[in-house]
Amino acid sequence: MPLTSPWRADFPALAILESQGQTYLDSAATSQKPQALIDALTGYYTCGTANVHRAQHHPGERATRAFEDSRIKVARWLNAACPTEIIFTRGATEALNLLAYGLEHLITAGDEIVVSALEHHANLLPWQQLAKRRAAKLVVLPLDERGIIDLEAAASLIGPRTRLLAVSQLSNVLGAWQPLAELLPLAKAQGALSVVDGSQGVVHGRHDLQALDCDFYVLSSHKLYGPEGVGALYGRGESLLKLKHWQFGGEMVRVADFQHADFHAAPLGFEAGTPPIGGVIGLGATLDYLSRLDANSIDRHELALHSALRIGLAEREGLRLLGDPQLALVSFTVDDIHHGDLAHLLTEQGIAIRSGTHCAQPLMKSLGVEGAIRVSLGLYNDGVDLQRFFEALDQALEMLR
Ligand code: ALA
Repeated sequence: MPLTSPWRADFPALAILESQGQTYLDSAATSQKPQALIDALTGYYTCGTANVHRAQHHPGERATRAFEDSRIKVARWLNAACPTEIIFTRGATEALNLLAYGLEHLITAGDEIVVSALEHHANLLPWQQLAKRRAAKLVVLPLDERGIIDLEAAASLIGPRTRLLAVSQLSNVLGAWQPLAELLPLAKAQGALSVVDGSQGVVHGRHDLQALDCDFYVLSSHKLYGPEGVGALYGRGESLLKLKHWQFGGEMVRVADFQHADFHAAPLGFEAGTPPIGGVIGLGATLDYLSRLDANSIDRHELALHSALRIGLAEREGLRLLGDPQLALVSFTVDDIHHGDLAHLLTEQGIAIRSGTHCAQPLMKSLGVEGAIRVSLGLYNDGVDLQRFFEALDQALEMLR
C-alpha cells in the first residue's frame, strides 16, 4: 500500500520545504500549519485587531466573540463539560507552571508529588521546584522495558502522602501511550489531584477528558498544527476552584483598590494581560480544520507510517530503539556512533529530525544514553518522506562506519 497523505496539500509549507530539499520529520518538536490556519490569521490581522473583554466598540466585540468561540472549540475538541473549564495560556509549559503555583497552597512539608521517569522538563521542573519550595518530596514512578509506567510500582508509590500526580499521556521520547486509565484512579483513591501533560498525546487521535477523568490537562497549540504562543489548560470545574491566582494584572481582576483586589474565577482570572488573541482565534480555526477530517483515516495513516518507520529501522544493523514506541515517533541510538555526528550528516542531506536529550535529561540518564536521534511524524508525512530518510540514513551510516 503506498503511504500517501491526502492531507499533505493542506499544509503549504511542505511543498516549499520540499523544493528546498528538506524532508520534515520533526513534528513532535513543532508541526507545520494548515492553510486554514494561515487564512484565519490573515483574516484576523487584515480585518482589524482589537483587544478582548475590554472594548465596547465593534472590532472589540468581534474579537471577543471569535476568542470565546475558540474556547468553545477547544472544549468540544477535548470533550470538556463546559467552555469555562478551558484557560488559555502561552503554551503547555506556562500551563504547568500555572498549576505548580496555583496549587502550591495545597502542598505542605512531607507531602508527596508524583511524576514519572519519562517526563519532559516542562512536566518535571515545575513540580521539582514546587517540592523544594514546600519541603515536599518528589516521587518518581519507574518505567518498564517498553517505556510504560510500571503500574505495580505506581500502586505502591502512590500513597496517603500523595497530593498530586503529574504524568504525560504520550512520551515525547519513547512514543509510548501511558496507562492513564489505570494510573489516574490510583491518585484519586488517595484524594490526590491528577495533571496530564497532553502535549504529544493530544495530536494523535481524539480525546475525551470527561472519560479520562483527570483534574487538569495541558496542551500546546503549535504541536497540534496550530499557532505558537498559545496553550490551553483544562481543569475540571471543581478542580479549578482549588487554584490560587498566580499572574496579576489587567482583566483578571474584578475590583481593585490600592490595598486590596478581588479576582475573577477561571478562566478569566487566570488570563492576566492581553492574551495571544490572534493565536487563540487561529487555534480555533485549526480545530475547525481538523474536525472536518476523518479521524479514523488519520489514525490508520499514522499507524501505517509508524509501522513502516519501525520496520525500516529494524532492517538496519546496530540501531537500538528507546523503549517500544507505539505511535508518532521513534528515538534511537546507533552502536559506536554519536547521535550528534549522525544528526549532522542527516541534516546535511536535508532530513529535519531532532537529536539530543529532547528536553528529558533525567530519562536519558536512566536509559544510560547521552542522547538519541528522534524521527517524529505528522498526519502530512508520507512514504516518500520515509524513503528519503532511509536513503539519507544509509548514506550517513556508511560514512560513519
Ligand atoms: N517538546 C518538544 C520536543 O519534544 C519541543 O521536541
